[in-house]
Amino acid sequence: MCRQFGPPESLSLEEVPDPEPAAGQVVVDVAASSVNFPDLLMIKDEYQFKPGLPFSPGGEVAGTVSAVGEGVDAGLIGTEVMALCGVGGFSERLAVAQRALLPIPAGMDMPTAASFLTAYGTSYHALKDRGRLAAGEVLLVLGAAGGVGLAAVDIGAALGAVVIAAASSEAKLAAAGAHGAAMTINYAEEDLRARLKELTGGQGPDIIYDPVGGDLAEPAFRSIGWNGRYLVVGFAGGPIPRLPLNLPLLKGAELVGVYWGSFTARQAEDHRRNMDELAGLWSEGKLHPAVSSVFPLEEAAAALNELGDRRVIGKAVVTTARP
Ligand SMILES: NC(=O)c1ccc[n+]([C@@H]2O[C@H](COP(=O)([O-])OP(=O)(O)OC[C@H]3O[C@@H](n4cnc5c(N)ncnc54)[C@H](OP(=O)(O)O)[C@@H]3O)[C@@H](O)[C@H]2O)c1
Repeated sequence: MCRQFGPPESLSLEEVPDPEPAAGQVVVDVAASSVNFPDLLMIKDEYQFKPGLPFSPGGEVAGTVSAVGEGVDAGLIGTEVMALCGVGGFSERLAVAQRALLPIPAGMDMPTAASFLTAYGTSYHALKDRGRLAAGEVLLVLGAAGGVGLAAVDIGAALGAVVIAAASSEAKLAAAGAHGAAMTINYAEEDLRARLKELTGGQGPDIIYDPVGGDLAEPAFRSIGWNGRYLVVGFAGGPIPRLPLNLPLLKGAELVGVYWGSFTARQAEDHRRNMDELAGLWSEGKLHPAVSSVFPLEEAAAALNELGDRRVIGKAVVTTARP
């Protein structure tokens, strides 16, 4: 529980009453909940969405429906589901709207299912809907071994892009390579612009996927190819960058915002179709969601710190042992 805003150490583990499902809701017995960057921001009161205190962090879960509220088919009880909940995932049981549920692809384990929705949903929406990625295009992914970044590498490769992965360590770049990146850039050691020029024969990437922002955004945008699309996904690097508007003009390029959370609410049918397509790609063995570390609920703070310290490759997951 987050009772006061602060670092992960200020969270407390507590027994609370079991949730009751309201009309239109189900109760999910949570098996796993993955850690996303916004969880860290929310407990510090640094996120755009501000849940009232107290709350339990955790924006997405996988588990089993154990109760249903008024208006929900009781046949759902016993179904394994993944769900986008926003907050409350780091718990044993959670009441969530039925409309937030999605089926778990057959054969996918709970930690992977808890990691799939946000990372793969965001990156698929970004690349397909917002970036109009075509096979053969060159895709640069910044923060390429993070949650959404590694998913973007994986999806980009599955859709036939030539993926250039950029990240801060060799271990992270090795993970991106294993997920289909054809080329890599270690931006902790190499000059991003010079290396991009070298790797693309001076042409620049067609699409740039940026969940990092900070000091990387402007040099990355300056390197983009003609008619390029720059996908603004997040600002894990800290400061929100400011770009001179002559840059998109000079390259005939697009600066494209990506807000998957709003997309799931405003275009619910498109979101469900995307998740169906992703489940299909996963079932065909074309996607490889990676869970690098699993923490018991008691160690949720350590999971959040691992993310904040840039040590996670792919996803960190919190699991719930139930008596
Ligand atoms: N727009 C949307 O719809 C949407 C949806 C989901 C997430 N997001 C955003 O996307 C961003 C990434 O989320 P995520 O859950 O994938 O996080 P993550 O797993 O922690 O990945 C973030 C990556 O950013 C890089 N990074 C650079 N500077 C960092 C710093 N000071 N602290 C932490 N990481 C840093 C790290 O890679 P290196 O060490 O290789 O630099 C890290 O792997 C967040 O800003 C999140 O809010 C946006």
